[in-house]
Amino acid sequence: MVASRRGSGSITLPTGQTMTIHTRTHEEEDLPHATKKTMADHLRKYESLFTLTPQRMRMIVEAFKDSLELGLQKPKQVVPMIPTFVFGWPTGKESGDFLALDLGGTNLRVCLVTLQGEGKFEMTQTKYRLTEEQKQDEGQKLFDFCAECLKTFVDTNFTDEDGTSLLKPGELLPLGFTFSYPCYQSRIDHGELIRWTKGFGAKNTEGRDVAEMFRQSIEKYKIPVVMTAIINDTTGTLIASHYVNPKTKIAVIFGTGCNAAYMEDVKNIDKIKELKINEQDQMAINCEWGAFDSFEHEHLPRTKYDMIVDETSNKPGEQAFEKLISGRYLGEILRLVICELIDEGVLFLGQETYKLETPYVFETAFLSLMESDPTDELLMIIGIFTHFFAVETTLAERQFFRALAMLIGRRAARLSACGIAAIVGKMDYLDEGCLVGADGSLYNKYPGFADRVHEGLIDIFGEKGRNIKTVHAEDGSGVGSAIIAGQERRGPISACISRFMEISVTLG
Ligand code: GLC
Repeated sequence: MVASRRGSGSITLPTGQTMTIHTRTHEEEDLPHATKKTMADHLRKYESLFTLTPQRMRMIVEAFKDSLELGLQKPKQVVPMIPTFVFGWPTGKESGDFLALDLGGTNLRVCLVTLQGEGKFEMTQTKYRLTEEQKQDEGQKLFDFCAECLKTFVDTNFTDEDGTSLLKPGELLPLGFTFSYPCYQSRIDHGELIRWTKGFGAKNTEGRDVAEMFRQSIEKYKIPVVMTAIINDTTGTLIASHYVNPKTKIAVIFGTGCNAAYMEDVKNIDKIKELKINEQDQMAINCEWGAFDSFEHEHLPRTKYDMIVDETSNKPGEQAFEKLISGRYLGEILRLVICELIDEGVLFLGQETYKLETPYVFETAFLSLMESDPTDELLMIIGIFTHFFAVETTLAERQFFRALAMLIGRRAARLSACGIAAIVGKMDYLDEGCLVGADGSLYNKYPGFADRVHEGLIDIFGEKGRNIKTVHAEDGSGVGSAIIAGQERRGPISACISRFMEISVTLG
């Protein structure tokens, strides 16, 4: 069989099976593998399916701009363009201690942020991984869990060695709640969940005020905090990035989900005209752009794999843009292509492939690892396929998988560029240029993601696209939330918000 090996060993899989791993210099001859030519032919097919031409990108940008405008004009549009009631940019002078609780796509975090003014801060945090059950269970139980974690954090960080509280009697710590799901807001400390995204489905929560639900949990656990703001991670990122670098005009998250926020002139937000907010003011808008092209599917180039991802998700039809881009879905798209080639008898003939057949087993992190494999023989890819899926691969197959990861990752980045370009175009930021604060696992960890976004911007705008630069954002879910919680405690914004509290309108 194998003529030469450069190393071998074995590992025990969770199932108890023992797997032999080896690195090879010669290909295995005893399994029927697809030829190099077959793999190259298949790759050409996927190239044409997953490649976005500059012309197509510009068409997407135009449709995207229309959706953003529509969302500002009328309530309850597909891209909801949510007014956040965060008014204007931070001064950079904000200071003090603030708590932030961040319920994102994968983790729950509790942070203590000390803002030191002049764009500086310090942070202590604790992270908890959410289980799949918690994401689907009763909503109130999810908020109880958040409150339990918050209580442990406050008890740990605000008591001395004798267990005596460091807080003055009656003192309440200001808390910003980063809740990264689409919520209609009619005030900054209120948020009605429109719909769960990113695979969450906790019951009895959609349509309800999640800030109020969380407040009930805080009361239940008697935690000495006052929640002054509920914010989206993109809004937090916008504010935090601007606190650190005032050239920031837009914030984007490319993580488990994908979304953007930017600062809009109040006079352009037609749907809240009746609130009679000062037309000179500015307000951050949480675009919820992951919903672009949902339901109608008119503008985005969806492949049949994207359609399967959509139809088998807990929210078919929804978050159409997000499903082509975000970390929750990219691994699944690649897995579906592999499964198709298994079914067609092209890949892994004669091998047990059941491990590849479970939805979502192929993590997006594997695509990152495959793309960054530095070895000629693609040893990292051998590792992934043998360790996790117990299948043998040839070099031609591994090259194919890597190229496929590249196509899917590149399409995600280029579509992301279309979203950014739509905001840039709408706001006319191209000539003067701007920074885009960016965060999320895909942006931070996927090799070359940022470069591909920048290439995409040049494809859309030509050389001027270079004026728009994404930069790794400061932790918006923590720091941004703290800055906003701080602004609220200081008062000027609260005073202005109380004016609107009496006006009961449903905003969208
Ligand atoms: C999803 C959420 C959105 C969030 C984004 C990034 O798109 O709906 O609120 O900002 O994920 O976490």
